[in-house]
Amino acid sequence: MTAARALAGPLIRRVAPLAVLAGLVVGVVVPTLYQRFALEERTAQARLWARQLASRTAALASERPQLWAYDRVHLGSLVRPVTSEPVFGRVRLDTPAADRVFEAGPTGRGGEVSAWAVVQAGDRVAGRVEVRLPAAEIRDIARFLWISAGLAGLLLAAGLFALPMAAVRRGDARNAELWAALEEANAHLEARVEARTAELKHRERELSELGARLVAVQEEERARISRDLHDDLGQSLTGLRLRLTTLEAMVPAEGPARRQVEAALGAVDAAVEQVRHLAHGLRPPALDALGLPAALRAHAERWAASAGLALTLDLADDEPPAGPAEVLFRIAQEALTNVARHARAAGVQVRFGRADDGWRLVVEDDGRGLTPGREGGLGLVGARERAEQAGGYLDVEPGEAGGVRLLVWLPEDV
Ligand SMILES: Nc1ncnc2c1ncn2[C@@H]1O[C@H](COP(=O)(O)OP(=O)(O)OP(=O)(O)O)[C@@H](O)[C@H]1O
Ligand SMILES: [Mg+2]
Repeated sequence: MTAARALAGPLIRRVAPLAVLAGLVVGVVVPTLYQRFALEERTAQARLWARQLASRTAALASERPQLWAYDRVHLGSLVRPVTSEPVFGRVRLDTPAADRVFEAGPTGRGGEVSAWAVVQAGDRVAGRVEVRLPAAEIRDIARFLWISAGLAGLLLAAGLFALPMAAVRRGDARNAELWAALEEANAHLEARVEARTAELKHRERELSELGARLVAVQEEERARISRDLHDDLGQSLTGLRLRLTTLEAMVPAEGPARRQVEAALGAVDAAVEQVRHLAHGLRPPALDALGLPAALRAHAERWAASAGLALTLDLADDEPPAGPAEVLFRIAQEALTNVARHARAAGVQVRFGRADDGWRLVVEDDGRGLTPGREGGLGLVGARERAEQAGGYLDVEPGEAGGVRLLVWLPEDV
């Protein structure tokens, strides 16, 4: 709805009484006042003339007490100065003799004003003078005033309504123009936002695909290195051990040569153990062969033994599918490595089980906790990336014993 249309109703409601009032003031009060003052003035004029004529007639009556009422010529000369006035009505002179009446001037056409004066001759009343003056033209003017003032009132009302309406209509037209421009700008902006959003989504998809590929490539690489370590280096070390065993049989049971061979055998065994350790860390065969809980247990126990920390395990027997199992195992590895590297903890808890239609793993230590401002490396970033890739999430928060609690949740299957 335009402002002009909205304004029309209230404006009419407010302006109409105002216009009626203005019309009344101008159209009724002005003519009424004019008529009242004009009639009063004319009546005063009639009174004045009546008094003048009465006093002149009184003088005549005193001069000629018996005949004055019959002397029309004389009476006419008394009246003449008055009848020569531009506004003249009618004079009537009544004498005590009822049939003796002197009249002069035209007969009025109604709407006259009149005034009386007594003709006092000595101590007796010799007669009465009545002056009637025309008032019709005053009433005509008043009527004309009434009509024209009424029209002026109407025009005023129309003006009071039309002027603001015209201004509002102009405003409406301007508003419509501005609104159209705004809508155009908005449409343009929305189109740009849509294009940007589509571009961003595309980038996001690309990034997430890249992340997934990175994780896959990392896993492949680890598997390859693990295989190489196990197959090549492991085989070579096994060959070396066989030769050393053969050599051991050839050297005398006592003596420095035998001790050197035994030391070499010990060193080779340690190297074999290290290679196995490395290979298992890179691609834990327990995960494929035994499933997640067993692989977690094996890794955590080995890790706790080498780190010298107290370990508490709470692992449910549930077996997640390969996808989530792999992610959870890698995150547990990173969490435990972080505890050993940063936490200065005495003990660590590892909990795993089903939760909220998915899998939950918690690694919590009793160490010194996170140091603000030392957010550091890529381990946790990668772990979070893995969790989110799998449709889950990873939280790192203060633990109950003051250390760090790392919690990861993954959906049922990836
Ligand atoms: N259990 C923990 N206790 C105390 N601080 C920790 C713990 N785990 C992580 N942090 C802190 O969080 C930082 C980030 O850890 P993150 O694993 O991302 O990096 P990093 O271990 O320093 O390096 P990277 O894992 O890349 O080799 C660490 O540098 C360390 O300051
Ligand atoms: Mg780390």
